[in-house]
Amino acid sequence: MSNYHIKHLEEYYQVYRKSVREPENFWEEVAEEHFMWRKRWDKVLTWDFKKPEIKWFEGAQLNITENCIDRHLRTKGDKTAIIFEPNNPEDEAEHISYQQLHDRVCQMANVMIDKGIKKGDRVCIYLPMIPELAISLLACARIGAIHSVVFAGFSSKALSSRINDSECKMVITSDGSYRGAKSIDLKGIVDDGLESCPSVENVLVVNRIGSEINMKEGRDVWLQPLLDKASPICEPEIMNAEDPLFILYTSGSTGKPKGMVHTTGGYMVYTAYTFKNVFQYQDGDVYWCTADIGWITGHSYIVYGPLANGATTVMFEGVPQYPDFGRFWEIVEKHKVNQFYTAPTAIRALAKQNISFVNDRDLSSLKVLGSVGEPINEEAWHWYNDNIGKHKSPIVDTWWQTETGGIMITPIPFVTPTKPTYATLPFPGIQPALMDENGEVIKGNQVDGRLCIKFPWPAIARTIWGNHERYKDTYFSAYDNMYFTGDGALRDEVGYYRITGRVDDVIIVSGHNLGTAPIEDAVNEHPAVAESAIVGFPHDVKGNALYGYVTLKETGESRDQNNLRKEINQLITDRIGPIAKLDKIQFTDGLPKTRSGKIMRRILRKIASKDISNLGDTSTLLNPECVQDIIDESL
Ligand code: PRX
Repeated sequence: MSNYHIKHLEEYYQVYRKSVREPENFWEEVAEEHFMWRKRWDKVLTWDFKKPEIKWFEGAQLNITENCIDRHLRTKGDKTAIIFEPNNPEDEAEHISYQQLHDRVCQMANVMIDKGIKKGDRVCIYLPMIPELAISLLACARIGAIHSVVFAGFSSKALSSRINDSECKMVITSDGSYRGAKSIDLKGIVDDGLESCPSVENVLVVNRIGSEINMKEGRDVWLQPLLDKASPICEPEIMNAEDPLFILYTSGSTGKPKGMVHTTGGYMVYTAYTFKNVFQYQDGDVYWCTADIGWITGHSYIVYGPLANGATTVMFEGVPQYPDFGRFWEIVEKHKVNQFYTAPTAIRALAKQNISFVNDRDLSSLKVLGSVGEPINEEAWHWYNDNIGKHKSPIVDTWWQTETGGIMITPIPFVTPTKPTYATLPFPGIQPALMDENGEVIKGNQVDGRLCIKFPWPAIARTIWGNHERYKDTYFSAYDNMYFTGDGALRDEVGYYRITGRVDDVIIVSGHNLGTAPIEDAVNEHPAVAESAIVGFPHDVKGNALYGYVTLKETGESRDQNNLRKEINQLITDRIGPIAKLDKIQFTDGLPKTRSGKIMRRILRKIASKDISNLGDTSTLLNPECVQDIIDESL
């Protein structure tokens, strides 16, 4: 079909206009020509942003793994589906063909069936970036189980709260994981977490690092011996288009993490179609996204999007700095990577290193560079463009979210002229709107406001697991008939969008979404702490870092402050994970509050950012005197 692969700007505008004028026809055409459906849909779209209720391709039946694997076997059985690049560069990379992927997914699916997993059951996957991770997702999808991947950097408490929220019956994990020169005791974390998870009946354990671990009788089993005995054939479970495919947790500005639910048909169509266009993927290309499959980027653009297009996708187990800061470029050279997709925080960290790490490698295979997860600053954009893209590989700055399932605002490479720091134009089917404080749509260009989306797209999350009210409150109640993203954006004179950052209490640190509330809850658990407020402040590599203002109880005031800082960060590591540790902790006598008792984070944010020239009117505060003390003692 002509509009599956957009190749020039005029075509983009034509396709875009059609996607807005006749969204149902537009998506129907994409869905009908490029996928394998067991039954056609009765209706393309039903939607109501008030309820909210969104259904795409209702009545259709499919299995996403038939689309990602089986249908490629006849022509591409021997083609590499996944290149696995291990943590240690001395270890050999593994090339998994589509046929091998098929067999391994079916074996894993059969093991899961044997252990009693059925359609609709939830399976938690807590694995490092090894092939079994991608295979586990696909095995769940094969049998209609709903996967819930938890990033393997989260703590045992974070893991157990996610397992309990969706009542997972099974956990798939490994004895441990490699991370650069370190190894991590993953199974120990799982054991701790599972002490409070009554729903879990079975734990499948991958042998990755060969460490001595505890295996709980009747619950834990080594996976490999079961896989060796399992059949490589497993008939796919036939799913309805709106059956849940997976749950993925994301931080909210308040309370516990939100289990975003993505369904099968629309998610498949959208991730496949965006992958093809945003990376201009051509048959034979090698594509590498450096994200972890524990995040949405890995779900959509390491696993489902690439495989639905029969692509070759690289999975990297390690970290950019091991064994040295040249590792990414070594991998690009070694596997002749054509499309490279990473995060601004990685670019900033790599840009600080000696340029010989880059110049010693042959990067001539690169055609398209991508950026995702946070705003990319001008300096990082230019470094990427000058040194990695060498002015010939366009940068696609892709804006999207866990909730959106796929890329929403992005240049299309070789089609959309790029502009540093701008995500540029909406992808076909995406109708952005900027809203003002009064809830009105801001018309025209050279404006800024809060970013909303006016019309549903196939990969939008359908609900929050077990809490539809929260889904409604978070995304659909701020503005009438709009999906609210939580981001601010500006639109320039030609209609290009630039995402300026979160407008709520979510802080993006090294590209990871962190809600301030759960971190404050962890800090407040410390017996010496009376109350706390967490804000973000600019950091040259992480984008934002965390600044904690902590008021101590009287009993805590005599304690050594450095010890307290360590204990507070340890609590955060235990409750959430090391990614949420505070860079700075300032002890304060009080926190600035409104007369209704709300902490004035705006003021604290400014002080943390050393921007105290314009704090606004503080006289209406309940305790204005504390502001000067906080400034005087700021770090
Ligand atoms: O604030 C935006 C930022 O990341 C948020 C979504 O985070 P998460 O759900 O973890 O998904 C990250 C990967 C898709 C957004 O609300 N964000 C993501 N991409 C960009 C971005 N901010 C600016 N520019 C981007 N390209």
